Amino acid sequence: MPLVGSGFSVLSEDFAAAPHRHFARLRDESPVHYEPSIDSYFLSRHEDVKRVLTDHEAFSTATLQVRAEPVMRGPVLAQMTGAEHTAKQKIFVRGFTGQALRDQTRAIRANASELIAPFLPRGRVDLVHDFGKPLAVRATLDVLGLDKRDWRQVAAWHSGVTEFITSIALTPERRRHCLDRAAELEAYLLPVIEHRRRHPGEDLISRLCTSEFGGAAMSNGEVNALIVNVLVAATEPADKTLALLFKHLIDHPGQLDRVRRDPALLPAAIAETLRYTPPVQLIPRRAERVTVLGGTTVPAGATLFCMIGAANRDPGAFTAPDTFDIDRPDLGTARSFTAAAQHLAFGTGLHQCVGAAFARAEIETVAALLLPLLEEVRYSPGFRYRETGLYTRGPASLSLDFTPVRGADGSGRS
Ligand code: HEM
Repeated sequence: MPLVGSGFSVLSEDFAAAPHRHFARLRDESPVHYEPSIDSYFLSRHEDVKRVLTDHEAFSTATLQVRAEPVMRGPVLAQMTGAEHTAKQKIFVRGFTGQALRDQTRAIRANASELIAPFLPRGRVDLVHDFGKPLAVRATLDVLGLDKRDWRQVAAWHSGVTEFITSIALTPERRRHCLDRAAELEAYLLPVIEHRRRHPGEDLISRLCTSEFGGAAMSNGEVNALIVNVLVAATEPADKTLALLFKHLIDHPGQLDRVRRDPALLPAAIAETLRYTPPVQLIPRRAERVTVLGGTTVPAGATLFCMIGAANRDPGAFTAPDTFDIDRPDLGTARSFTAAAQHLAFGTGLHQCVGAAFARAEIETVAALLLPLLEEVRYSPGFRYRETGLYTRGPASLSLDFTPVRGADGSGRS
């Protein structure tokens, strides 16, 4: 059945329920799919997505002025180019790699042990709500140098900011709600920024406050926007990736068994999870001039959404793309977390994820800690798996049962 003219919409409930069921038809029949209600084009082929993300002259990130800036309250890294992007990206890279990353990994392990402990004797945990979401927020607070005790409040503000960025359409009420949360988050951050200017430490906020660009320090507003940038970018995809990793391994018991016996396979399992079910499903861009993409002429000024989920399952890029396979030779674990990645879960080009190494360390550390603790891990009786989200996507919840553990340190099984 042809898609074009069939009433098909990527905004339909049918698509939202299981986007991957529509990817092959989109790529084959409507690779540059136009959605009139939002006047935007959706690109599903690996080749086209890669071209849009790497041709920075023809395709810009200007869409973020509308999609992100109102809640970030200033320009984020993805909006910058040239010398400004290079200089500010460097501050981020230093904050998430080397010794900083080693310290953060220790903190992640401690956070994860503390969060999982109460669930071990019960033998049941919701990996999304009980564990993944709080862990992702707390790990990001540690990177930034914010007080972990504030995580519930920060998580509430963060979810308002994220809702704004990841919604395709917002009602005026939800828009107000999101803008109010962003204003509260800024009111919380500004005194912290002032304090770090006077008493800088080793954390990322201090680095942002003390770095100079073009001979001048950044304003409070610029620092605030970059802090919120990291908060959203680091938190939103992390818990989704962890939950998806466990889901795929539970669905493939042979691969779960091998990863359990040989944790050195974890990076391959994480890379394959990112290819198979990327948590960031859409990356927006604006066409800066009239361009022909996949046989369709796209006008200057058009909004494009790169469909990362569809591109990562393109048979032109991966053999048997709808199969989850941690051994797949066409992925390459080492390069999967670098600029040479074949999958597009971290984007590609100038704005490729600057936190990819951190994300790998975070998920690997946590999964290596959880796997030996969650013996006989399986879905809880009656649990029905459901994913949500068009822009970012992950399990709505993931209730897991496992053999209860005596003692919060996991030292003995009941
Ligand atoms: C599995 C986890 C993650 C995924 C799937 C992911 C995905 C992405 C994607 C797709 C982009 C590109 C956006 C674009 O081209 O417009 C991006 C950019 C970015 N990510 Fe991540 N990310 C993850 C974790 C993180 C973490 C942990 C951090 C920080 C510690 C982070 C910080 C950033 C930043 C700052 C950018 C903007 C880079 C730039 O514009 O130069 N991300 N990420």
